[in-house]
Amino acid sequence: MSLQYQCPLCNNELIKHGSSLRCDNNHTFDFAKEGYVNLLPVQHKNSKQPGDSLEMVQARRAFLERGFYAFLQHALSDLISDLKPDVLVDLGCGEGFYTHAIADKIEAQVYGVDISKSAVKYAAKRYPQCHFSVASISQAPFKAASADVLLSVFAPIFEQELVRLAAPNASLVVASPGPWHLKELKDYIYSDVAQHTEINTPTGFIKAAQQLITEHVKLNFADIKNLIMMTPFAWKFRPEHWNALEQKGEHTVTLSFYITQFTKIAL
Ligand SMILES: C[S@@+](CC[C@H](N)C(=O)[O-])C[C@H]1O[C@@H](n2cnc3c(N)ncnc32)[C@H](O)[C@@H]1O
Ligand SMILES: [Zn+2]
Repeated sequence: MSLQYQCPLCNNELIKHGSSLRCDNNHTFDFAKEGYVNLLPVQHKNSKQPGDSLEMVQARRAFLERGFYAFLQHALSDLISDLKPDVLVDLGCGEGFYTHAIADKIEAQVYGVDISKSAVKYAAKRYPQCHFSVASISQAPFKAASADVLLSVFAPIFEQELVRLAAPNASLVVASPGPWHLKELKDYIYSDVAQHTEINTPTGFIKAAQQLITEHVKLNFADIKNLIMMTPFAWKFRPEHWNALEQKGEHTVTLSFYITQFTKIAL
C-alpha cells in the first residue's frame, strides 16, 4: 500500500522517492536520519519550537516508562485491534507510547503525527514499525478519507480535520481524563476540584461506545514531578505546593480515563 501523505503546501499526493517525499509541484521533504519526515512548513509554525518541549517530552517519557499508564495502553490496543484498521493515524502522538503498542498488535499502516520535533524524533528512533511525521494536526498532511481509525490521546481536537481524514465508516477513538483523574494532586492547587466531563461528540461523528477505566496507584515524589510536568496545570504549582508534595512523599493517586469510540456519519 502506498503512503497516505499529502503535500502540506499544495495538498497534492506525496510520493516516496528514495529518502524523500515529493509532490507533482516538486515540493520535496526529506526523511531525517531517525526515519521521520518533517511536513510542517515554516509558515505553519507559530513558534520556533511548537508543541511539547524537550523537558516535557522527557518528563512524560520517564513517567510512562514506569508503567503506570500501561492499563490505558492495553485498553487502547485491545479496542483498536478489534477494529482491524488498514490505516491508523495517531494525532498528537507524542513519543509514540500508544502508537507503537497498537502497531505491534495490528496488521496496518500506522502513522504518528505531532508538532513537537523532540517527541517525534524520540518516537521515530525507537519505533521503526510506524510512520512518524512532524506536522500540525490542524492541517494534517494526509489525504482525505485516508484513515479508517483515528486516535487522539490527550491531544487537541480539530473537528474539521477529523471529518476530512476519516474514511467512510471510520472510527475515531479518543482518550480523555476520567471524572477524578489526578484528583489528589489537584487538591493541592484547587480548593474545589471540578470533575472532568466526557468529551463532546465531534461534528460528523456519532458516539458508538465508551469505557471508563480507573486505577489507584502509589507514586513517589519523582513520579509525581514527572506526572505533573505532563499536565496542563503544571504551571499552577508554586514552590510551596512542591514543598508540601515532597514532604508527604508517597501519594496514592487516581488515574482515570474515558475511552470513547465515535463512528463517522455516512453522508
Ligand atoms: C498531552 S500530549 C499527549 C501525547 C501522547 N498522545 C501521549 O499521550 O503520550 C499532547 C501532544 O499534542 C501535541 N500537539 C499539540 N498541538 C498540536 C498540533 N496543533 N499539531 C500536532 N500536535 C500537537 C503536543 O506536542 C503533545 O505531544
Ligand atoms: Zn506540493
